[in-house]
Order: sequence, then structure tokens, then C-alpha cells
Amino acid sequence: MIDGKKVLFSGMQATGTLTLGNYLGALQNWVKLSDEYECFYSVVDLHSITVRQNPAELRKRARNLLTLYVAAGLDPKKNCIYYQSHVSGHAELSWILNCFTYMGELNRMTQFKDKAAKHADNINAGLFTYPVLMAADILLYQADVVPVGIDQMQHLEITRDIAQRFNGVYGDVFTIPEAYVGKSGAKIMSLQEPSKKMSKSDENPNASVYLMDDEDVIIRKFKRAVTDSLARIAYTDEQPGIKNLLDIYCACTGKTPAEAVKEFEDRGYGELKTAVAEAVVSVLKPVQKRFEELSKDKTYIDEVIKENAEKADYYAKKTLRKVQKKVGFPERIR
Ligand code: TYM
Repeated sequence: MIDGKKVLFSGMQATGTLTLGNYLGALQNWVKLSDEYECFYSVVDLHSITVRQNPAELRKRARNLLTLYVAAGLDPKKNCIYYQSHVSGHAELSWILNCFTYMGELNRMTQFKDKAAKHADNINAGLFTYPVLMAADILLYQADVVPVGIDQMQHLEITRDIAQRFNGVYGDVFTIPEAYVGKSGAKIMSLQEPSKKMSKSDENPNASVYLMDDEDVIIRKFKRAVTDSLARIAYTDEQPGIKNLLDIYCACTGKTPAEAVKEFEDRGYGELKTAVAEAVVSVLKPVQKRFEELSKDKTYIDEVIKENAEKADYYAKKTLRKVQKKVGFPERIR
């Protein structure tokens, strides 16, 4: 609790180009929840270097992502928007939690297996302990809730396990966090292979809608979206392409799948695709416009970065000092 409010933490990586999946699965919910909670939203650049990055590019993407958080509607006076690398507590707590995490647990992580397969020439220890750093992010702020897409659920589970294990040894040190997954949009699929998640790292640009795609591109990508030959509009796993389109529509409009099916059941796939594309454009356009404006205001964004890093550091240190004391590190002499 901070000032009587429950705490929310979430983060995103500044690697690749952000997709509609990141927006509908995470960012949009962050904005919805931001009044109710005391929120920490991090650009998780420490996680990014588990895969080799071009330094100039990473710096630029990180700044764009931070700007995008604000452009999406998160008020930086109320929400703590900051770079993970500006708060050393993340790395420090991560080390301690490494000593409370088992190799066997980490070995089970599907994201590690996927990434290790994709980057077979660089299976580094950071890639393996990535979920521990994620646990540190969340536990450092004593977060009650963590809004994420479905692909992060396994990491949330291990975070809870680590926290419970630590609390079991030292008493109630950490708040046990809950995941928050939106009703729709929690797993947006590829437009080209609807059995696969829409991903920043997909090599086929038609598979993903990027947050900065302009209207024509968005419409074209939806027109090309892979569907099926059943010629009926239903929300079912047998029709993953149509189900995904309906999901996107619901996440953009706030409608339920039943309402969406009713609206489109007598219409063709072409009409559905156009309606979904239009719904996406109307959600993304204002964010893009605001992003363009904010990107020009260097002084403002610099101020956000400075002030919020100080705020995050303050809360991070509170937890870190407590943890250091619990595990038996000597007290500082002032
Ligand atoms: P990242 O950067 O891969 O994704 C950011 C957020 O977007 C969600 N997401 C999706 N949601 C729906 N459909 C999709 N196709 C889709 N693709 C991505 C993700 O679930 C995520 O919520 N490890 C994290 C970042 C992280 C973090 C944290 C998150 C680091 N520390 C602590 C929460 C709490 C990651 O790589 O997300």
C-alpha cells in the first residue's frame, strides 16, 4: 500500500517494434487501471540485453517506449514511468532472489526455451535468470497487481513462488502479487498464422500490426489476414483467424464476443476485416498523434525521466533495505 492505495507494477521491453498485441494485452489495461492503483510502469532495459542489442538503437527505442507510455494516456504526475536501469535496486534484489530460485524452476520456463532456440549462439545466464529479474521488478514495489498478457503468466507464477518461499523463511516481507489479464486482447494472435502469438520479433511484417503503422497499412494488413473457408462468423477455436479478429474488435470497442458475433453473423469476412481495421485505427490514431507531439518536447520528457526515477528509487530502496536486513547483511554506518 502507498498512501492507502494498492500498488500496480508492469513493464515492457524496448526491443523490436511494439505491436497491437502489446497495446491491447497490456498498455490499454494499464491506462484503465491507473486511477485505481499507485502505479509503476517501467521500460525494462535490463531485460533487453539478454539478447544482443545495438546500443544506439536500444537507447532510442527505450526513449520512444517511455514517451509512448505517456502518449497512451498515462499521466506521469500520477504514474511512475521510468527506466529500469535508473534504479539499481532491480539488479540488487534480483541477485538476492537468484539465491532463492531453483535451476529446475527456471528450466521449465517456456519463454526461455523459445528464446534459447531462437538465439542458439547466445544462451547466456541472463536469459536463463530473466524471470528472477522480473520477480525483482514486481516485488521491489510490493505490487498487489501486475497487468500482463497471457504469455507472461508463467513468469507471474514463478514470482509468486519465489515471494512465498522468501516469506516462508523470513516472515511477511513481500506482498504476493496477482496477475491482471484483460477480458479480451490478452493473447492477440499473428494475422498470418493465427495459431501463433503476434510478436515484435516476427519476421513477416504482415503478421503484426505495429503501433506506429498508418491507416492505409493497418487496413491492408487486416485485408490480408488469414481466415478460413467456412464462411461463417463464430467465436470458436476451430476458426482461430476469425476468433482473433473478433478478439481484436472486442478489445478495441469494449464489446463482448457474443455482441460482436451478433453484429457480424450475417455479414462476410471482408466486412468484418474492414470493421476491425477501422476499430484499430480509431484506437491507435490518437496515441500516434500524441506520440508525435510529445517526441518534440525534449525538456518535458527529460523531466519525466528524472523525477520518476527518483520516486521509483525511493520505494525500491525501502524494500531493498528491508530484504538486506532480513538476509543478514551488515547495517550501514552513517
Ligand atoms: P514484452 O515486452 O514482451 O510485452 C509487453 C506486454 O505485452 C504483452 N503482450 C501481449 N499481449 C497480448 N497479445 C500479444 N500478442 C502480446 N504480446 C505481448 C505481454 O504479455 C506484456 O504484458 N518480460 C516482460 C516485461 C517485464 C515485465 C516485468 C512485465 C519485465 N518485468 C514485470 C510485468 C512485470 C516482457 O518481455 O514483455
